[in-house]
Amino acid sequence: MKIIVTGGAGFIGSNFVYFELQENPEDQIICLDSLTYAGNLSTLEEAMNNPNFKFVKADISDRKAIFKIFEEERPDIVVNFAAESHVDRSIENPGIFLETNVIGTGVLMDACRKYGITRFHQVSTDEVYGDLPLDRPDLFFTEDTPLYTSSPYSSSKAGADLLVLAYYRTYKLPVSITRCSNNYGPYHFPEKLIPLMISRALADQSLPVYGKGENVRDWLYVRDHCSAIDQVMRKGRLGEVYNIGGHNERTNLEVVKTILRELDKPESLITFVTDRPGHDMRYAIDPTKIYNELGWFPETKFEDGIRKTIQWYLDNKKWWEEILSGEYTKYLGNTY
Ligand code: NAD
Ligand code: DAU
Repeated sequence: MKIIVTGGAGFIGSNFVYFELQENPEDQIICLDSLTYAGNLSTLEEAMNNPNFKFVKADISDRKAIFKIFEEERPDIVVNFAAESHVDRSIENPGIFLETNVIGTGVLMDACRKYGITRFHQVSTDEVYGDLPLDRPDLFFTEDTPLYTSSPYSSSKAGADLLVLAYYRTYKLPVSITRCSNNYGPYHFPEKLIPLMISRALADQSLPVYGKGENVRDWLYVRDHCSAIDQVMRKGRLGEVYNIGGHNERTNLEVVKTILRELDKPESLITFVTDRPGHDMRYAIDPTKIYNELGWFPETKFEDGIRKTIQWYLDNKKWWEEILSGEYTKYLGNTY
């Protein structure tokens, strides 16, 4: 099968490219990415030598370019990871989030309609459900939880999800959607909580924790997310939404303290800073549907995953130091 992976030069997309090349060597993978500030070709260096892998630079909202690629490649499956993904950036500059996350998803599906595919899979997020209160640990997001978004980022992802479901109902486009909780692991861009805290702690810099650090996120090791998408993409029911998560809730302060402990750095590095506007309090996924229907379970415990992740950042300093030094944005050209 020929699979187009959009956003494959980013964090989860690149992990998915490696997962597929390793686990399904009979498939061909085409990474389609516009290389924004968050996309990094050096991340795909090892894949470049694989005859089953190809990289194409294109913007998913560029209709002409996307149709041309589909005309040439005729993919069987499209998995859409491409997105503007950072909540704080969406608060500063919402426009590009609408352009990529909503319009781009529509353009991809229009190309799928024209050229025919067996599945369009949309990689979505638990943030489309809004948040849960801290004093109700009995509540979880299910696939039936109403969409109720807080940030321009989550609103753009919810908009895309609705468009995907509309294309299923109206045009019978074979689609599926997964909504996952917070990922962590290799190649995570150092603007996000975990890699930001690791890189700053290693440099003995202050660690900016928003508000009181009480907000709760439900963490999943990135390879577990990739294996879940793989299952849904191959066996999931069309027109369906599947939540992905592993019941692994932690407050931000707990996560930051774990990182400091693992790196043997003092808690005095923690600095409480102004809260994110509209900051979601708690995310918590109920993954019963994917457990029961597809038999998917996460393999990595947080204690092991966070150690592996920290070790990866220690072993791959060049990757993130180049990003932080601005060397790599110079090379890419900045989209902002
Ligand atoms: P990321 O920001 O690390 O990577 C995004 C990738 O998309 C980059 O390679 C970027 O160059 C590319 N891209 C951006 N705009 C593009 C465009 N217009 N055309 C083509 N390529 C473009 O993001 P991530 O954290 O890997 O997230 C990937 C997907 O997973 C997103 O759709 C996100 O909403 C979703 N998601 C992320 C998480 C998480 O914890 N990171 C959790 C659940 C869902
Ligand atoms: O839940 C899935 C979502 O997880 C994805 O859809 C998003 O693409 C992804 O970016 C992530 O969103 P979050 O906003 O949860 O991730 P972030 O790493 O930005 O922040 C995690 C928590 O840490 C959040 O409560 C805000 C807080 N935070 C973040 C940063 C960057 C801090 O306290 N300090 C920081 O410097």
